[in-house]
Amino acid sequence: MMKTFGRIVTIFCFACVVCMVSGNHGGRSDETKVVQRKRRDYDYDYHLLHMMTNLQRQIRAVEKEMKKRHKEVAFTVVHDGTGQRITHQSQVVKYNQVKFNIGGGYHKYSGCFVAPVKGTYVFFFSLEPYPGTKSSFVITVNDRGMLEGVSGAIHDEYNMSSNMVVVSLRKGDHVNVKTHPTWSVDPRQRLRYSGNSFSGFLLYPR
Ligand SMILES: *[C@@H]1O[C@H](CO)[C@@H](O)[C@H](O)[C@H]1NC(C)=O
Repeated sequence: MMKTFGRIVTIFCFACVVCMVSGNHGGRSDETKVVQRKRRDYDYDYHLLHMMTNLQRQIRAVEKEMKKRHKEVAFTVVHDGTGQRITHQSQVVKYNQVKFNIGGGYHKYSGCFVAPVKGTYVFFFSLEPYPGTKSSFVITVNDRGMLEGVSGAIHDEYNMSSNMVVVSLRKGDHVNVKTHPTWSVDPRQRLRYSGNSFSGFLLYPR
């Protein structure tokens, strides 16, 4: 009898303890969840703020780099009515009318374009030799011929030639229009007026 009573008391006490523990545990769990959620929200906000700060810093760096790279280079030069007498092979064509020269790449007195920055450039030239004469010109990069333009003679008329080149230049590279290095030159040759032009621009800086 005593034994059974003792067992019942023991079981009762055990049940009470289990109830207390589980009850307590349940309460703490809810609290923990709220704390955890708050912490998660806080972590998330912090993460976003951190990301935004980083993005701002990166945007500022990109803007700085763009400003550094952004360089306008473009020019168009032509001959005026006085023009230029062409007397020999590999003679530099010097255009004496500067229509546009942003970035200062074209040098009027040497007739040379000097790349102010590294990048991909586009050049175009048009030649309108003296009527009745034939002529051949090349566009050169650092004195190396890239491509040519040839005009055959037409009696009393102009026969034009032109060409365009896309090249990758380093800073300081030279680009010129020259008479052909091996073709004969007509002593009557004179380049005049804006039919003789040389233009170029920076397509992509690097
Ligand atoms: C113009 O020059 C080119 C190149 O020499 C020649 O092929 C063409 O026949 C010339 N045009 C005329 C109308 O003579």
